Amino acid sequence: MKYRELGGTGEMVPEIGLGTWKYSGGPEPLRKGIELGANLIDTAEMYRTEDAVGVAISGRRDKVFLATKVLSSHLRRDAVLKAADDSLRLLDDDVIDLYQIHSPNPGVPIAETMGAMEELVDRGIVRYIGVSNFSVAQMREAQQAMTKYPIVSNQVLYNLKRRQIERDLIPDCVENNITVIAYTPLADGSLAGKSRFRPDKGGEVLERVAKEVNKTRAQVALNWCLSRPNVIVIPKTNSVERTIENCEASGWYLTPAQVAALDEAYPL
Ligand SMILES: NC(=O)c1ccc[n+]([C@@H]2O[C@H](COP(=O)([O-])OP(=O)(O)OC[C@H]3O[C@@H](n4cnc5c(N)ncnc54)[C@H](OP(=O)(O)O)[C@@H]3O)[C@@H](O)[C@H]2O)c1
Repeated sequence: MKYRELGGTGEMVPEIGLGTWKYSGGPEPLRKGIELGANLIDTAEMYRTEDAVGVAISGRRDKVFLATKVLSSHLRRDAVLKAADDSLRLLDDDVIDLYQIHSPNPGVPIAETMGAMEELVDRGIVRYIGVSNFSVAQMREAQQAMTKYPIVSNQVLYNLKRRQIERDLIPDCVENNITVIAYTPLADGSLAGKSRFRPDKGGEVLERVAKEVNKTRAQVALNWCLSRPNVIVIPKTNSVERTIENCEASGWYLTPAQVAALDEAYPL
């Protein structure tokens, strides 16, 4: 497993983390991921998987970088503080490594939310502050509302089929030292051929490149995301076997020609 720096923190996080939306695999897939170095686990109060994550990381907490999220309906100061407490109780832990705002809420002043996030860092309950589903303008506003700490990450939709963030968000994150945590990197399994794989133009190229590098389509789709600067991915799987497969998407690189062929096959 290769690692990338989280924002400008000096903290190294794996290129492949473990997503847990709709996760129902029990402890073993997450434990296998941790063993293989995919030690960033992403959950959220919304997912109702924090308790399952707590069970999986029990006895291994020192090896794990734990990321969770506060719901956008909990962005008033007191609600943020309570949500963090509730998450920690479910996770059976006392510190969140990365606390992310799940999505923006225009109904709550951003300064109030970011102030509460900073308060959590001051109290030692949260180590780093991140956001999710924020546009470039929203990231800027959130950063300007903070007085002490940086936004270290933005968790956003990114995969071969959904490349919109290449237009402005990735360049902005590179410029400002913010990690892009790519969610749904397998397009919900469709790039991996989970459901019947119907090769379209993109699929044919994906399959050809996978054969060339002797990897699976899932591994190529994940590795393609990693060809972008500042990006890490958090695929979700309930299976130990597919956890191993996904972890093996790190540690090697597609050639520039293969990346270019995939870019062309799945145009922006
Ligand atoms: N911040 C947000 O708003 C937001 C939104 C969506 C997701 N997320 C985060 O991102 C994570 C990943 O996104 P996602 O769950 O939406 O989609 P995803 O990771 O793109 O796809 C998950 C699907 O792919 C299948 N899969 C995984 N690895 C596979 C492989 N090697 N071969 C074949 N199929 C494979 C899984 O099935 P099996 O489980 O059966 O293997 C599952 O059905 C989430 O779990 C969550 O942590 C965040």
